[in-house]
Amino acid sequence: MELKKFLAEKGVGTALVSVFGAIETASKIVQGEVSRAGLGADIFGAKGSENIQGEEQQKLDVYADECFIKEFRACGQVAGLASEEQDNALQFDESLNGDYIIMIDPLDGSSNIDVNVAIGTIFAIYKRISDNGSELEDGDFLQAGKHQVAAGYVNYSVSTQLVLSTGNGTHIFTLDPKSGEYRLINENVQFPADGKVYSINEVNLDDFDDNLKRYAQHCKDKRKADGKRMYTGRYIGSLVADFHRNLLKGGIYVYPATVDSPKGKLRLLYECNPMSFLAVNAGGKGSDGTQDILEIEPTELHQRCPFYVGSPVMMDEAIG
Ligand code: AHG
Ligand code: MN
Ligand code: MN
Repeated sequence: MELKKFLAEKGVGTALVSVFGAIETASKIVQGEVSRAGLGADIFGAKGSENIQGEEQQKLDVYADECFIKEFRACGQVAGLASEEQDNALQFDESLNGDYIIMIDPLDGSSNIDVNVAIGTIFAIYKRISDNGSELEDGDFLQAGKHQVAAGYVNYSVSTQLVLSTGNGTHIFTLDPKSGEYRLINENVQFPADGKVYSINEVNLDDFDDNLKRYAQHCKDKRKADGKRMYTGRYIGSLVADFHRNLLKGGIYVYPATVDSPKGKLRLLYECNPMSFLAVNAGGKGSDGTQDILEIEPTELHQRCPFYVGSPVMMDEAIG
C-alpha cells in the first residue's frame, strides 16, 4: 500500500498528510543525490562551514537541510522548523496559519557520507501551542517529546526506507525505485522484547558511569548454555542505521555522557525524542539513563542528552 493511502486509511487528517507529502518529496530528492555521490556529483566532502554546535558541515548536511526546509515551507501546513543545521528556529511567515512545528536532523551520520555507509534523516512533528496566525513562541519548539503527533526517519541504505509513527504503531515503508512510491512493507513493527546486539562506541568506556561499565561487561561476559557468547557488538556510527537494525533484530543503542560530550552527544529535540517515540510505539523504550526521554521538558533548541534506546528487556538490564 502506498504511503498516502495508508495515512488516509489510518484516519490521519489532510494537513498532516500534506506534511508527510513534503517529507516524501524531500527525501526522494535527497535519496537521488545520495545515490549519485561518487559519480562526480560533487556532493561528497566538507562544506567548509560549521553549524552552531561547532560541527563541520558536510555538503550533504546543507543540501538535505535546504531540501527539507523548501518542501516544508511549500506545503503550507508547517508554521516553523528547528534543524540541527540552523542556529535558530525558523518561522515560515507565509504559513503562519500552519498547525505544525518540525524538528529535524536533515542528515544523520555525516561521517558516513563519504564512505558509502547508511545515513538518514530524522524528524519530529508537533502541533503548535501558540494561536494560529500569530508569531511563534519558544514554547512551540520546546515541547516535551510526549507531545509529538508524529515522528520518523528515512534510512538511505541498501534500499531507502521510511519508518514512521503517528502515535498508533510504528510502520516501515520501502521506496520502490520503479514507481517512485513508498510502499508499506511492515505494519506495526515490534521491537523484539530481548536482543543480542549492543551498539555503543566503546572508545568512551573509561568515561561510562559505574552502571554502564557494569552493563558493558555483562554483555561481554554472558554466555549461553552451549558456552557461546550471548551478545555481539554492532556500531555503525549513524543513529538511524544502528536503531533500524536493533528495531528489526532486537538490541540496545547507548550514547552516554562522555568527557568529550559531558551532556551526551545526541540532541534531544531532533534525535532522541523522535527515535524514542518510534521505539515506544513499537514496544521499545527510550531513556536518558534516569528518566523517560519523552518526559524531559526541553530548555534549549540544540540541547543534548545521554541516550539509551531499544528492546525493553535489554533496556531494563542496562538502566537497572
Ligand atoms: P550527525 O551526523 O547528525 O551529527 O549525528 C551523528 C551521531 C549519530 O548518528 C551517531 O550514532 C553518533 O553521532 C556517532 O558518534 P561517535 O562517532 O562519537 O560514536
Ligand atoms: Mn544525527
Ligand atoms: Mn545531522
